Amino acid sequence: MPWWTGLDLRVLRHVRAVLRRRGLELTLVERRPEEAETKRAAFAPLDAADGKGPGIAVFAPALSEPEVALVQLMLNEAALDVADALRERRPEERAAAASGRRTSYHGICGAAPTMQELYDLLDRIGPSDATVLIQGENGTGKELVSRAIHAASPRRDRKFVVTNCSAFNDNLLDSELFGHKRGAFTGAVADKPGLFEIADTGTFFLDEIGDMSPALQVKVLRVLQEGTFNRVGDTETRRVDVRIIAATNRDLAAMVAAGQFREDLYYRIHVLAVPLPALRERREDIPLLVEYFLSRHRRARPKRLAPECAAQLGAYAWPGNVRELENEVERLVVLAGDAPTIAADLLSPRIRQWSPPATEDTAEAANGSLPAAIEALERRMIGAAMKRHNGNKTRAAEDLKVSRRNLIRLVQKYQLE
Ligand SMILES: Nc1ncnc2c1ncn2[C@@H]1O[C@H](COP(=O)(O)OP(=O)(O)OP(=O)(O)O)[C@@H](O)[C@H]1O
Ligand SMILES: [Mg+2]
Repeated sequence: MPWWTGLDLRVLRHVRAVLRRRGLELTLVERRPEEAETKRAAFAPLDAADGKGPGIAVFAPALSEPEVALVQLMLNEAALDVADALRERRPEERAAAASGRRTSYHGICGAAPTMQELYDLLDRIGPSDATVLIQGENGTGKELVSRAIHAASPRRDRKFVVTNCSAFNDNLLDSELFGHKRGAFTGAVADKPGLFEIADTGTFFLDEIGDMSPALQVKVLRVLQEGTFNRVGDTETRRVDVRIIAATNRDLAAMVAAGQFREDLYYRIHVLAVPLPALRERREDIPLLVEYFLSRHRRARPKRLAPECAAQLGAYAWPGNVRELENEVERLVVLAGDAPTIAADLLSPRIRQWSPPATEDTAEAANGSLPAAIEALERRMIGAAMKRHNGNKTRAAEDLKVSRRNLIRLVQKYQLE
């Protein structure tokens, strides 16, 4: 029986209006109503007695699964609209917006167009209490972004608790998250609160949520839906008010399709999805990041990169993303010793020896003909940019630094539509 709690009344009114247009009637009721069981669905404002303070629950006993998914989607969209309306911009945000470009955001460094989109999204997410799902490859900054969301939220003065779901086996994670009662299992010598209790009124960052077992997924879903849980081995039901930020580097949608991740939990944590770009998709930020990491390691003498060294850093594929770059810079600083300039031959062998596979293939396929190689490269880069931007030519053109008209001509030439 789906319940959505802690929602803003404006979100619900909006959702109700939209759903009504689609022929789905949700009723706004006074409080969690027994009689609502007979209705198709109801919104129930929660009172303080529920321990959740002012808030709203949506009670939907008779909705079919697709209808529940529809309501969830509507809530996601409405949450963003309302967050927009509620947002009060800080002065520095306003200044940045006026200049049009930000180079950092609460410790996140980057100025690429994808990062501007990220910062805009974080502006909207911060003030809300909605659950967030951060998705990105290893080292793209998922934890950093989760801290930024907490720092920009009304809970910023409350606790920020982190746990990594892949670091424990199932039983340990259960007790870690929810706590246990004395004697619940061998070694449970005393009552112990779990991290959900510790995170009460704050934010809980659940890292690698894709690695959580289905049994624990059910318990997390219950906290999200009802704000309640039981410690392991305990009959007492406890209540918490925790904002959850989840992260994963796995494809949760594919895991849902494969039956490895619960669909209901997926929809619940997917309320606001924050995709993080891989570093190779925002290469223009590499010099900025290098500068940032150098400045953190800089001791006596300022260091700068030899041009060849900077070029090789800029060309490399960075499968380990920002973390790999951070480690590389640290390594370079150490190896350079007192030298004022960091030479290219200090780079890790994998970076020095790396050559972009696309270029090699292209040159080979072109049989030594330069015009053919250039055409092949053009086709490849334009195809990739169109894919990255879902066929949006304006954005693809911006990314490739060509005019839109030029791009349209090339897309037609190579039949990349
Ligand atoms: N945009 C960024 N600006 C500055 N530092 C960054 C940025 N992104 C990542 N980092 C740094 O890179 C390292 C890895 O970041 P983080 O731990 O947040 O990544 P992650 O996505 O959680 O990685 P993993 O999937 O491996 O857990 C950290 O030291 C972090 O400070
Ligand atoms: Mg991480």
